[in-house]
Amino acid sequence: MTTPGIRPLVAGNWKMNGTLAMAGALVSDINGRYRQAALKADLLLCPPFPYLAAVGGQLTGTGISLGAQDCHTGASGAHTGDVSAQMLADLGCRYVILGHSERRADHGESSALVAAKAKAALAAGLGAIICVGETEAQRNAGEEKKIVEYQIIDSIPAEATATNAVIAYEPVWAIGTGKTPTPADVEAMHRHIRALLVTRVPGGAGMRILYGGSVKPSNAAELMAVPEVNGALVGGASLKVEDFWAIAEGAAKSAA
Ligand code: PGA
Repeated sequence: MTTPGIRPLVAGNWKMNGTLAMAGALVSDINGRYRQAALKADLLLCPPFPYLAAVGGQLTGTGISLGAQDCHTGASGAHTGDVSAQMLADLGCRYVILGHSERRADHGESSALVAAKAKAALAAGLGAIICVGETEAQRNAGEEKKIVEYQIIDSIPAEATATNAVIAYEPVWAIGTGKTPTPADVEAMHRHIRALLVTRVPGGAGMRILYGGSVKPSNAAELMAVPEVNGALVGGASLKVEDFWAIAEGAAKSAA
């Protein structure tokens, strides 16, 4: 067991991919497999905003959760193009991914902004999946632990607990590249994060820490078995039912 007592979470981050037709087919395939298996892991699907309602409808009553990929800090107001956490909760979302490195890079999101978004998410009753991770240059400079530590300290709001928040460690250089850290490197970082959570978050010993970045069927079992890895945040491989399912089984096996 990767952390005794923690049930793994496998989350599919679809990013800005797919069509409505593809979403319908993918979710129906995942639902079919989930119904047949007593999977020892929780599953979460995070489609783009426009598909949330349709995917949410398909997931109703299945036991698989719905999540979004971002939210605004405010409850409502003059914020053209933005979406509030309450709106996501209205659609049946249980989680929202916040501070993904693509948002930190593409939209200049700071850790302070991520913390404000997470606070809004928690106020709306959503679980916040807070993403952290170093760049390749930072790792090459031996700064990865320090960088992730700052991101954790600054991105987690005071209201976070083990039950309403999740950390996703995603090295930026591993996202969408096919490269992954070694299991030993993943273990070192996850242990570092765990030690921080224990001192900073109520119940931090039981908070989920996901690994993300090029998780695929061929490396899932190995990565998911690493101590203090409590599931995966999966990008590209979450768009193919065979791949996503193999990863979910890998995570479930690590908890068995
Ligand atoms: P990847 O993306 O699995 O395609 O590397 C992971 C993520 O960005 O969440």
